Amino acid sequence: EFKKLVFSGVQPTGNLHLGNYLGAIRKFVALQEGNDCIYCVVDLHSLTAQLVHDDLPGQIRSIAAAFIASGIDPQRHIVFNQSAVPQHAELAWIFNCVARIGWMNRMTQFKDKAGKDRENASLGLLAYPSLMAADILVYRGTHVPVGDDQKQHLELARDIAMKFNLDYQDHIRRAGRGIDIIVGDEPVHAFLPMVEPLIEGPAPRVMSLRDGTKKMSKSDPSDLSRINLLDDEEAISKKIRKAKTDPDGLPGEIEGLKGRPEADNLVGIYAALADKTKTEVLAEFGGQQFSVFKPALVDLAVEVLSPITGEMRRLLNDTSHIDAILRNGGERARARAEATMKDVRDIIGF
Ligand code: ADP
Ligand code: NA
Repeated sequence: EFKKLVFSGVQPTGNLHLGNYLGAIRKFVALQEGNDCIYCVVDLHSLTAQLVHDDLPGQIRSIAAAFIASGIDPQRHIVFNQSAVPQHAELAWIFNCVARIGWMNRMTQFKDKAGKDRENASLGLLAYPSLMAADILVYRGTHVPVGDDQKQHLELARDIAMKFNLDYQDHIRRAGRGIDIIVGDEPVHAFLPMVEPLIEGPAPRVMSLRDGTKKMSKSDPSDLSRINLLDDEEAISKKIRKAKTDPDGLPGEIEGLKGRPEADNLVGIYAALADKTKTEVLAEFGGQQFSVFKPALVDLAVEVLSPITGEMRRLLNDTSHIDAILRNGGERARARAEATMKDVRDIIGF
């Protein structure tokens, strides 16, 4: 068995929102107890869609500040910035040669982000999942807390790891670096683990507050569509009050949310923030109108988010603390990534 290691990353692009918090960062915090965790600001990924960024250092600090303000302990675990560890890009190159173009072409995020003019998308946007696999596997990461939108990329990371293991079976044996595992029914002498996504929870995909069929996203032009981690109480209250709903009130049972994406989304957000199931939330609010539920949701969101917002602002006021955390995390991550890459180079025959 591979040693359990939790890895995840967030891009330094735009404002962090409630979807990033509930889908990812809050899980990072919960996983700290009893696990070895590495949390990364993935700045290399931020070039896939847009080459030039106004304030990349500021954006990087802001993600790191959100990690720390949410309760991640950078002493016991590792918080760092991806480009500080060049081994990610080195392994990604090898994975570009392992992965097949057909695998990449099937990625729904690529299709969404590339749009109609696919010939003009960057090669990096197509190769994105290969770098993501390298981010995780350069530490031989086993568990990845992410939102539901990343599920397909993690399946691809397993495919890449599997093909690497199978293609290099003999070399892995010769290098004495493998572990015998069973994948499906097949015994494999593996150097790279099969990563497991950690997606579960009441709000695996937080949807836009304006359109329940789109995910809440940094790139949505309407600021009313998302709650940003740096929003104050007034902004949160306004956005939830204006959130789209239907004319019915809250149902008593989960089946009553079927075909009602906006209602389902608000109940899911409440459940995630309260650490309850949707069933428990409906047991409390079933039969009530949204005019009653929404103020309760505002109070809860403010209660959960305002300490994080306050701490983020404090950390971003004096950047020296965050910079020191990132520097220290980078050194520790580099040492661990280099240990893996020594073996990888040995296995390949460089
Ligand atoms: P974004 O998709 O907003 O650009 P990232 O790609 O950096 O953000 O994703 C950071 C993390 O946040 C990932 O684990 C992703 O799955 C999660 N995430 C992003 N949007 C949502 C959402 N609407 N609901 C749940 N999780 C999300
Ligand atoms: Na994303």
